[in-house]
Amino acid sequence: MKSNNWDVLISSAHIQEGIRKLGAELTQIYTGRRIVVIPLLRGGFMFAADLVRNMDVDLQIEFLGAASYGEQTRSSGEVRLTLDTTLPLSGRDVLLVEDIVDTGLTLAYIQQLIKSRNPASLRTVVLLDKKARRQVDVDIYGCVFSIPDRFVFGYGLDSHGGFGRNLPDIVALKD
Ligand code: IMP
Repeated sequence: MKSNNWDVLISSAHIQEGIRKLGAELTQIYTGRRIVVIPLLRGGFMFAADLVRNMDVDLQIEFLGAASYGEQTRSSGEVRLTLDTTLPLSGRDVLLVEDIVDTGLTLAYIQQLIKSRNPASLRTVVLLDKKARRQVDVDIYGCVFSIPDRFVFGYGLDSHGGFGRNLPDIVALKD
């Protein structure tokens, strides 16, 4: 990835600091419970990997994969499930972990899907929130960073064609 195309928006150190705080808060909430953490793939994998290492809670990990049809830098809201969970979620405390909420359409779809499986509770945490672009109301328990309406990638999020996920910082494309 050529670094003259982007600026660092949130540094790796800043990301880790934010995640540590959220992890401590979630530890308090879930202490004494056995929960299921569901990273939403693909973008949520890196955030989830760091978050669970900051949670002192008995937990299992399941995965959901979602892709939305659309242009390269905008999602259409038409969601396709690419991977489903294997454990029953009925009666379980579920923590959904998502990289970014933009229009909210992907999250709304996935939350509805999980709720239809009758979990005891469902909380959603997101790393990044582009509030200005919201089209539907979604219930978000915790957000690590609110960001402006810019296309971002790195730290699990991809730019074009799936590249850029391995950058340790969150970067924004230059206008
Ligand atoms: P929403 O359905 O519009 O809320 O979009 C959520 C999904 O779109 C995320 O899970 C990402 O995959 C993708 N997305 C939205 N904004 C960005 C961005 O700035 N960079 C990378 N992916 C994004």
